[in-house]
This record gives sequence, structure tokens and C-alpha cells, in this order.
Amino acid sequence: MTLKAVILIGGPLKGTRFRPLSLDVPKPLFPIAGQPMIYHLIENCSKVEGLNEVLLIGSYQPSEQLLTDFIARVRKQLSLQVRYYQEFAPLGTAGGIYHFRDQIQSGNPEAFFVLNSDVCGDFPLTEMLRYHRSNRHGDHHSHRELYTMLGTEATRQQSHNYGCVVSKKETGEVVHYVEKPETFVSTTINCGVYLFSMHIFQHLSQAFEKRQNSTSYEQNLPPTYRDESISLEHDLLTKLAGSDKLFVYHTNQFWSQVKSAAATIYANRNYLKIYRTRNPELLAQNCDNGPRIIGDVYIHATAQVDSTAVLGPNVSVSKGAIVGAGARLRESIILERAQIHDHACILHSIIGWDSSVGAYTRVEGTPNDPNADKPFSKIEIKDLFNNEGKLNPSITVIGSRVQVPSEIVILNTIVLPNKDISHSETNRIIL
Ligand code: GTP
Repeated sequence: MTLKAVILIGGPLKGTRFRPLSLDVPKPLFPIAGQPMIYHLIENCSKVEGLNEVLLIGSYQPSEQLLTDFIARVRKQLSLQVRYYQEFAPLGTAGGIYHFRDQIQSGNPEAFFVLNSDVCGDFPLTEMLRYHRSNRHGDHHSHRELYTMLGTEATRQQSHNYGCVVSKKETGEVVHYVEKPETFVSTTINCGVYLFSMHIFQHLSQAFEKRQNSTSYEQNLPPTYRDESISLEHDLLTKLAGSDKLFVYHTNQFWSQVKSAAATIYANRNYLKIYRTRNPELLAQNCDNGPRIIGDVYIHATAQVDSTAVLGPNVSVSKGAIVGAGARLRESIILERAQIHDHACILHSIIGWDSSVGAYTRVEGTPNDPNADKPFSKIEIKDLFNNEGKLNPSITVIGSRVQVPSEIVILNTIVLPNKDISHSETNRIIL
């Protein structure tokens, strides 16, 4: 029996907290550790035996060249069927799955994975599949109605930012599910990764009908204007909890949401760490004529890095980027064709496409890492501004095509694309 995977990639209207980076590239294609965010998810899926097709569902235009090129490359590289299906409007986290049900059901797969595209991690999909199958209770009938979600632990305080799962300790059966509860429900949270048997379409159909009836009743709209959106979390998981059909598989492996630019620095660090054990050939090595490398660093083959530069830990340098003599880079992502001039220092920052940082300039952000003293702590999803209207300390993001002059300091600042900077800046958004 075959398996498929659906990745929910959202659309141009989503990912607003990811700006200004999503102004230049669809958020799911933002490069982390040298690969677009969703490449890591697709690669993870490609490791599951029997999984031979990945459907990307979103509302980006199919003419989006970056997406088309990406799909062509991934198909070849991972020898996998990868297809993009465009929703006519954002249909919510389950509306697209229902709308493209024929495409998902074709070939009669045993089950299919669903992954949110704004999460990163080392997902134990094969183990999750094994667990899913084991819940058939020994009967070899593969058609039992069964749904498995991936869960992880969060701190009590942070859990309310996520979908919270209450399950039976012995069996993992989900008895209660609440999306972003106002009061404490559980420290087990939804990772946005699911495995569904094909029966899910019955529930989607019911949710769809219900939505159609209620919206047409409330708004008295003709059918073409009715809302076809369905929420996986609100319309399905909440309902399936307690039905003896929904189970949670726990993981303590690396997992994080990637809602903000700051989260990409954390994701970059963790994906590079995975390379260390699984793809060490992707990591830069210290060699006689090369730059000094500290810890995990990715440098694209076409990037030029001066042999006196010092990089790492946790740095990714993209295609065609140039790093000058004596430059120091740490915990940062340098995007395509960016130029870091001699002796510049880049810390906890993202330098945008075709931007340049002048000689002796320091670009620095504030790390936003999970609290290392609190077990299961996640990245804090902060608002851009604090209660006094001041910018919360954040990583520094230099948007695309920005020229940062020599000998200045840019601290905790977000610079939108094409902006001119003439002097040092601290805690600012340059619009
Ligand atoms: P926010 O905190 O508001 O971002 O909510 P959330 O964390 O629950 O995330 P959300 O439900 O908005 O999105 C979860 C995933 O589904 C993300 O990867 C989105 O890109 C994707 N997604 C959200 N809405 C849609 C949609 O209408 N269509 C598709 N195809 N994907 C979507």
C-alpha cells in the first residue's frame, strides 16, 4: 500500500510575521541551512518507505517561478512526485485537503501525512507510521478509521500558544483537544504533523456541509460566494478527540514553529546540527586555504569566502554571496548574492538578497532562543512592539537590495527592502 503527503504551504496573504523576508520569496521557500524551508519537510517525507507523492497545497499563483523551479529540482533530486495544487482562495488548514480530495485519493493510498509548512524539525515519520499501524489492535484490516497526530512537550506557560492535547497515558488516545486555550489544558502540544486514514474525507465532507449551511444561512449568499474554508484544528481535531480514533505520537526531537524571522536562526542551527550526523559533506570544513570554521557552517559552492574570514557557529552562506577578508559571521543567514565587506561583523542577523554590508560595520541582533533553563521551552513568539510601543529586541534583518555603509553599527533593527541607511541604527524598523 502506498502513502502520500500533503504540505500546507499557505499563500501570499499568510506569513505576515515573516516580513520583510516574505516580500521577496514565498515564506515556505525561505532558505534555512542552504535549503528552502519545505525542502527539509519533503526530504523528511521521502525517507518513509512507500511514500511516493507529495502534494503542496496553497494559494500562491502556479506561475510563481520560484515555486515551479523548486518543484522541478526537488522531483529530480529526491526522485519523488511533487505537485502543486492552488486553492482558488485560502481555504483554511483543511479546506484545501477537501477540495483536492480526488488528487489525494487517486491510487488508493493507505493513508496520508499532512504537514504544516511553518514548522521545522526532525520528524519521526516512520516511527509515527509504525505507531499508527500498531493501533489497528492486531487486526490486519488496514481500513480502520484512524488518525495520528505528532505531539511534543511545551512548558505550562507557553502551551496556550499552541493546540493542546489531552491523551490517555497508556494508549495515546486523544480525549480532548483545544486550539490555543485561554486557560491551561495540557503541556502536550500539536506539532502540525498528522497521519490520516482515508476516512478523514467523510469528516471533511460533514464539516464542509455544515460550513456551507451556516454561512449561507447567516449571510444569505449565493453558493459561489459561500465560505469553503475548513479548519483542521477547530472543525476536525476538536471533534475527533474522544472518539477512539485519534491518537498522539510523542516526540522529543527538535521541533519548532517558524513564524518569525528570528525563528529561522534557531531552525538554521538545528538543521545544521542534523547535517553533522546525517550529511556531514554539506558542512564546511577547515582547510589550508579556506576560512576558519567554528562549529556547524554551510557555504554554498558558488559563494566566495576569503580565507581570513571566521565563520560560525551556525552560519549559512547562500549562492553567489561574497564574504571579505577578516569578516566575522556567527548565528546568521547570508542570502543569495549578498556581500559582506572586509572586517564586517554579522551576529544573529539575516542579510538579504543582493544587499551589502560595508567594511568594519557591525550588524547585530538579539538572540531569541528557547529558555535553556526550562525543559521543553520553545521560542517565544513575541510581538514586534512592546507595551510602550518600542521595538522588542530582535534579530537584525537587512532586507533585500540594501546598502549598509562602512564603519557603522546596526543593532536590533529591521530594514525593509531597498532602503538607504546612512548612519548607525539601534532598535528601529526602517520603513
Ligand atoms: P497563527 O498563529 O495565526 O499563524 O496560526 P497557526 O499557528 O495555527 O497557523 P495556521 O493555522 O495559520 O497555519 C498552519 C499552517 O497551515 C501553515 O503552514 C500555513 O501556511 C498553512 N495554512 C494556513 N491557512 C491555510 C490556507 O488557507 N490554505 C493552505 N493551503 N494552507 C494554509
